[in-house]
Amino acid sequence: MKFKMKVNMKVKTILTWQEMTGRDNSGQTLIVIDVLRATSTITAALAAGAEKVIPQNSIEGALAAAQKYPNALLCGERKGVRIEGFHLGNSPLEFKPETVGGKVLICTTTNGTNAIFAAKGGRPIYLGCLNNAWACAEAAFDVGQDLTILCAGTRGNQSVDDMLAAGSMVYRLQQFYPNADYDPISIQVKQHYEKERHDLHRALIASSHGQFLAKLSMSEDIAYCAKENIIDRVPLCENGEVCFS
Ligand code: MLT
Repeated sequence: MKFKMKVNMKVKTILTWQEMTGRDNSGQTLIVIDVLRATSTITAALAAGAEKVIPQNSIEGALAAAQKYPNALLCGERKGVRIEGFHLGNSPLEFKPETVGGKVLICTTTNGTNAIFAAKGGRPIYLGCLNNAWACAEAAFDVGQDLTILCAGTRGNQSVDDMLAAGSMVYRLQQFYPNADYDPISIQVKQHYEKERHDLHRALIASSHGQFLAKLSMSEDIAYCAKENIIDRVPLCENGEVCFS
């Protein structure tokens, strides 16, 4: 960490991407979170050696982007399941070095990629999850600007999985910057995380999106996404492309 401290840094947490409509993100660091599973999967893909990930907020957009990158892999889900004709779904466990190493990935998901688009105007825009939560908190602290933590949520509702990752980031930030101006939702998600942090896997299984994935036989994804701080790199979205910062 470089400890470029801003006096009175403000930290705000937003619980659904829909709440971002009409908001001016300029001058802000944004961290976009979709633990189950878009940002966990994008982080896993880059950790497995993908060259870059291009998020798209529609299937049509993904297919149009693929015209520019004929060797790209199309990835993503609708209703949790791989989109017909796409190479990969949205399970982080699919993104192995032998599959994605050196590849450009074009990705569209139900919520997560919309949340990335909703962060437009923020600079930098980081992607976070439980797997890299503290690395995200430290990267945002290094930038030293006001920070908005944007939870994707699920179909316009707040999502426990995202809130736990946001809480983990606030917890970490408070360790080295206790006097920043944390908004009430940031404090609330941190307290929730403190209660659950000793068994995040259990908390994710109990969450409504966790239950949804379990019904689709995707319980292994939940176990993976619950692993806190296993990746110390932070995806950065710049000019519509995501690479490790
Ligand atoms: C989303 O973007 O809505 C999620 O990543 C859905 C999923 O779990 O695949």
